[in-house]
Amino acid sequence: MTAYKTALITGASSGIGAVFAEALASDGSDVVLVARSTDKLQALAAQLVERHARQVHVIPLDLAQDGAGATLSAAVAALGLEVDLLINNAGFGTTGPFEEQDAAREAEEVRLNAGAVVELAHAFLPGMLARGRGGIINVASVAAFQPMPYFAVYAATKAFVYAFSDALWAECRGRGVHVMAVCPGPVDTPFFENVGSQHRLRETVPKAAMATPEFVVRCALEGLHARRRLVIPGSLNKTSAALTALLPRSIVTRLIGHYMKG
Ligand SMILES: NC(=O)c1ccc[n+]([C@@H]2O[C@H](COP(=O)([O-])OP(=O)(O)OC[C@H]3O[C@@H](n4cnc5c(N)ncnc54)[C@H](OP(=O)(O)O)[C@@H]3O)[C@@H](O)[C@H]2O)c1
Repeated sequence: MTAYKTALITGASSGIGAVFAEALASDGSDVVLVARSTDKLQALAAQLVERHARQVHVIPLDLAQDGAGATLSAAVAALGLEVDLLINNAGFGTTGPFEEQDAAREAEEVRLNAGAVVELAHAFLPGMLARGRGGIINVASVAAFQPMPYFAVYAATKAFVYAFSDALWAECRGRGVHVMAVCPGPVDTPFFENVGSQHRLRETVPKAAMATPEFVVRCALEGLHARRRLVIPGSLNKTSAALTALLPRSIVTRLIGHYMKG
């Protein structure tokens, strides 16, 4: 049985977020599902209620809008809920040469991947600290560990999430609230179909390097229960993160650029 009564999962309509919702409901948590696609959220909610007999709430919301954290906090309060596990998972990427990217789309990427993570921490962390219990999982990426030419804004947002998560982890230590970052490598989800450029990102990933969302979620929840600061699912990703940390940043960045350019 989970230690968390009510888990709020952003980006729950698809991929890793939907699997988090399934795993937590199956483990005994009530869940709050947040994303923009109302129909997908409602379909998932109906399945979870039927399979796990938990309370499932759907809050359709565009988290890239300014003030999304306050809007979400008000919606949760109106439902009479106290969130004790927040999973900041919603996110998307843009690939290709920076100068060819749509500026508005990349601003949206920064607001969702980084800004909403901060807004939601403001919305829910004070309550957790006041109650002396809770948890936050921030879904970053192995993209957080080095700059990524041709994936520049995405990698920068994930570096932000990782650094922000670690800082909150340190601030919350010993106060009953655990903050953790999970940094997956490539995961087999619709993420690759949403990168919004001609760059064929999925084809650059060797099959053996592609994890399932179920594996990533299992690693993340085990890491949360073990109170880890950081979870990197998979030995290949752990090894490449360790190598990246050893090499000069200029060399790593040029190598990644060469690989990403294809
Ligand atoms: N797949 C990978 O290889 C991989 C690797 C490392 C890290 N990650 C990270 O894992 C997280 C989940 O991605 P995924 O792989 O599961 O991709 P996904 O299947 O495309 O899911 C993305 C989720 O984010 C939601 N979302 C997108 N824009 C939103 C917005 N403006 N407001 C609210 N929700 C929004 C989507 O729902 P709606 O469209 O319904 O809003 C969807 O539920 C992301 O943060 C991603 O960066 C993915």
